[in-house]
Amino acid sequence: MSRIHSQAFRNKVVSADEAAALIENGDTIGFSGFTGAGYPKEFPVALARRAKAIHDTGEEFRIRMFTGASTAPELDGALAEADAVSFRMPYQSDPIMRRKINEGSSDYSDIHLSQSAVQVRQNFLGKLDFAVIEVSAIRQDGTAIPSSSVGNNAVYLEKAEKIILEVNEWQSLELEGMHDIYDRFRLPPDRLPIPMTHPGDRIGDIYYRIDPTRVVAVVESAAADRNTPFAAPDEVSKAIADHYLDFLIHEVEQRRLPHNLLPLQSGVGNVANAVLTGLKDGPFDNLVSFTEVVQDGMVDLIDSGKLRVASATAFSLSPGYATRMNAEAKQYRQHIVLRQQEISNHPELVRRLGVLACNGMIEADLYGNINSSHIMGSKMQNGIGGSGDFARNAYISAFVSPSTAKKGDISAIVPMVSHHDHTEHDTAVVITEQGVADLRGLSPQKRARLIIEKCAHPDYQPILLDYFERACKTANSQHTPHNLREAHDFHVRFLETGSMKP
Ligand code: COA
Repeated sequence: MSRIHSQAFRNKVVSADEAAALIENGDTIGFSGFTGAGYPKEFPVALARRAKAIHDTGEEFRIRMFTGASTAPELDGALAEADAVSFRMPYQSDPIMRRKINEGSSDYSDIHLSQSAVQVRQNFLGKLDFAVIEVSAIRQDGTAIPSSSVGNNAVYLEKAEKIILEVNEWQSLELEGMHDIYDRFRLPPDRLPIPMTHPGDRIGDIYYRIDPTRVVAVVESAAADRNTPFAAPDEVSKAIADHYLDFLIHEVEQRRLPHNLLPLQSGVGNVANAVLTGLKDGPFDNLVSFTEVVQDGMVDLIDSGKLRVASATAFSLSPGYATRMNAEAKQYRQHIVLRQQEISNHPELVRRLGVLACNGMIEADLYGNINSSHIMGSKMQNGIGGSGDFARNAYISAFVSPSTAKKGDISAIVPMVSHHDHTEHDTAVVITEQGVADLRGLSPQKRARLIIEKCAHPDYQPILLDYFERACKTANSQHTPHNLREAHDFHVRFLETGSMKP
């Protein structure tokens, strides 16, 4: 049976190719999609076909593409491969899109995830021609039930001149009731406080209100979300997770955290998932999370009875877990709230709720400055994502990474970061498989010695210490010693010889 219960919307059902034909060269499209969840599946592939056919005639066809965050091969991958994206925001992790961005053929604006909707609302990013949004059903009154991610969908539906909906029957109907869509955002000077005091609070509607006069097409699909499965935690991620847990236990012992901790935020990727897996076997109960994505480890925590409430903007589940979520959404919606990323990552809420942030990094320097986004200072990996929303405002902000990359040829602890996403002022704790450097309350020079001692790989400890001690003796040595000529020798050595080791 069709998921479209409103006749007005049923009258607008077309094929994905017919919907794609509505798009003109240069249009700006706000797509749904946050990680491999809740992105339109049929429309973007049809749009990529249209772009290729137009390119074959020698004409230009490229769109400006906004999303919630990263998406999946059918969206980022297909459009990048068709060379159909002139501009991309706010976050991506697709290999082909990454190549286009680094080649310079697609412009990329790497924006704090909490700010992307705000910038659209402020009209800083130009006119939004289309919103293309996946939903799980359209109700008789024309409201629509969100699917497995919320991201920036509400603001795109609000601001776009025209709307295309993709109704996906793979998504569980029992997601109805899991979402919380808030519509009282205002611009200054009329901005209101977000009326939430607990991560589980519901402050909005369970559906999107959609202006039917702007809906120009409805496409039906039945394809599954596509997230990369998580790797089983290896020794290094397990060691990082154990260090983080030990750190939290210590904080409770010191009475700096309550017994059930504070709302947890965990970043993307395998290490973050290993931390969640570690919490399942840890001593904490009655946990809550205020985070961006619900990953496999969080579902396990809910199943174990340890996690009471998870507030996020999207699922980021491997295929087996996504199937489970679909089958048991009715149970899980008692524990999970999916909301706009404007709220899941809201700096004021992160500060007020006292979130414990734990995010991945590419490298940290001796003073706790963090690079989350660029390889060797130049190549975009994914983007800053929500790490800045959480790091700056968290109760305690931890950054985690293996101490080395590329089979030991790169040290994740370097004299000076090659790209700067988070400053030393936003980093409370750095953790690698080697140990934990608790930087709170330390002067730069004390931080440097501690990071080398606790976090650097033994292969790199002597050369880092040598750098630091010689930097302390230069004529320029003051509060934060650096030898500016040598600060990037580690990176230069890797680029010239394939290893940071001398
Ligand atoms: N120098 C050079 N390359 C490095 C490196 C370093 N110090 N550290 C990692 N890399 C490379 C890896 O070798 C790997 O390369 P490959 O793709 O060619 O194999 C790549 O970077 C990704 O590394 P990996 O260890 O697989 O990373 P991850 O999945 O744990 O993710 C980040 C780490 C930093 C990329 C990821 O956490 C991220 O994108 N963070 C920013 C956004 C964010 O924090 N979001 C969460 C907020 S809620």
